[in-house]
Parts: sequence; structure tokens; C-alpha cells
Amino acid sequence: MANGQLKDFKRIGLFDSGVGGLSVLRELAKLPALAKGRKFSYVGDTARCPYGNRDSAEIVRYVDEIVDFLVGKNVDAIVMACNTSAACAFESAQKRSPVPVFDLITTTAEYAAGLNKKVGVMATASTVRSHVFSRLIKSQQPGLDVFELACPEFVPIVESGYIDQATTMGFVEQHVETLLKQEVEVLILGCTHFPFLRSQLEYLLKGRVQIIDPAVVLREHLTAGLNGNNNLSCTQDEFNFYVTGSADGFARAATSCLGTLPGPVHVISVEQISEQSLMEKITDVVIAAAESMTSPVVPSTVAP
Ligand code: DGL
Repeated sequence: MANGQLKDFKRIGLFDSGVGGLSVLRELAKLPALAKGRKFSYVGDTARCPYGNRDSAEIVRYVDEIVDFLVGKNVDAIVMACNTSAACAFESAQKRSPVPVFDLITTTAEYAAGLNKKVGVMATASTVRSHVFSRLIKSQQPGLDVFELACPEFVPIVESGYIDQATTMGFVEQHVETLLKQEVEVLILGCTHFPFLRSQLEYLLKGRVQIIDPAVVLREHLTAGLNGNNNLSCTQDEFNFYVTGSADGFARAATSCLGTLPGPVHVISVEQISEQSLMEKITDVVIAAAESMTSPVVPSTVAP
């Protein structure tokens, strides 16, 4: 389904491993008055964060569980506000979900391909391993150079809620140097946590590289031709946050990212998130047992 239809939904579920997806929520909440009165349900799987160095099978399992949880919350669309999840589990989430699932990578890759400049992508190790950005960009512009770089320190920095520490600049600088050596002209913030390090990146890049925040690309794509630009703080939308880790930790990190948290934080256990999947697993066992019963327990031809 085309990303453009996302603006028509009113009960939107988003998820990420932690606070990174708030960079997406921030942009979606700015969608114009047309879509006011929406209900946003946000899952931050903080107990299992980071996702970025996990293998695909594990990420697919977590995504399945979160999709089930959000569907249980009665959402009518799901946004994968976690590019690692989208890189590893977009197709499986689409198959599993009875409601439309949207990602950020598709729109961003289209936009970047259109710029026709050497692209740098900063992302998690799992996203880089998938090469999803380069694959999609090159599918549109085969000649374009795409350099993907894993930045494993960035997610814990943002999750800590202490972004403005001197040490942050040191970590960001190392990776910026690598990018500059590659002479990239545009930089995709390929993990939803990274827009919260934008001021450090801008400071170090000194205007030499155009920064692309995929959430902004998605919002602009959705609002093309529409008027209005509301802030998160003045919307009449309703926000609920569900986290698998500490509520206080999430609130602290979220406040350091957004300045404010526009709704309550509910702590849910990983078991709760898995509940439906667990139920399905039990159902599968029951079905398998029932099916095995249909094959005759007593051989039809009993030896005399
Ligand atoms: N924010 C996520 C992403 O966009 C996941 C980061 C992580 O948990 O490693 O990739």
C-alpha cells in the first residue's frame, strides 16, 4: 500500500525498540488539521533495546509480537518507526498484520535516489547488513554510489537521555570523519534514533552534507499539496506510550528528545506483548495434537 494513504487513518500504531520512533511520531503529529482527533499508540520495546545488533529471525519474532499487540489495541494502521525492524521484517509484518503497515525506508530511498548525489547512510549494524537502503536506491538509480555505515554507539546515547554530553560529540565525530572521507553529499539518518543527534551532526558536517531525516521526508510526502503545520504540543490527538522496560527511563529519554511527553506511559511486560503469539503457539500445539488424532490411533486393519 502506498505510504500516501497513511494520512487517512485515525488510530495509528507506531513502534520502535525505544525512543527513536518518537522522531517519527513528532512528524506524523504535525500532519494538518484534516487528520485531527487521531489516536496514537506507541510501543517502545525498551526491555529488548537495542535491536540493531540482533539477527533477523529474532527481530522478526519481536515485530510479530508487537504487531499483534497493536492490533489488539484496535489500531487501523501500523507505522514501523524502527528502520531495523523494517529492514528485517517489513514483509513479514505486512503478512501478519490485518491492517496496513507503513515504513520509512521506501519513501526515503525514492527521495534520495531523486537527488542524484553520492549517498551516505548512518544506521544500525542490522540495517547496514541488510543493505536495504542501497538496494532500494540503486533499484531506481543503478549508477548511484551509496555508502552505509553502522553507528552502534548512537542508540544507547539517545536511550540514556543524556544526549548533550561531551562524550556524545566524540562518538559522532569518529563516524562523521569516516563519512567525509567517503565524500558523501547527502546523509540519510537511517535509524530513527539518529535525528535526535542532529545538532551534533550539523555542527560537525558544517553544511558540507545535506542531512535527510526519513520522518521529515515521509511527512512532506504525506502533506504535499496540503496546508497547515501543527506542533505536537497543540494537537488534539491522543497519545499513549507502552514500554516493556522502565517507565521512568522512557519518560526521561523521551523528554530529552522531544522536550515534552504528550501522553501517559504504560508499562507492559514482554510476556504481555507475547501473549497473543504465545496463545497462537498454544493453539498451534492444540491443532497439531487434534490433527494427529485424525490419523487413526488404532490401525484400521488390525492383525488377527
Ligand atoms: N530506532 C531503530 C532503528 O531505526 C532501532 C535502533 C536499535 O534498537 O538498535 O533502526
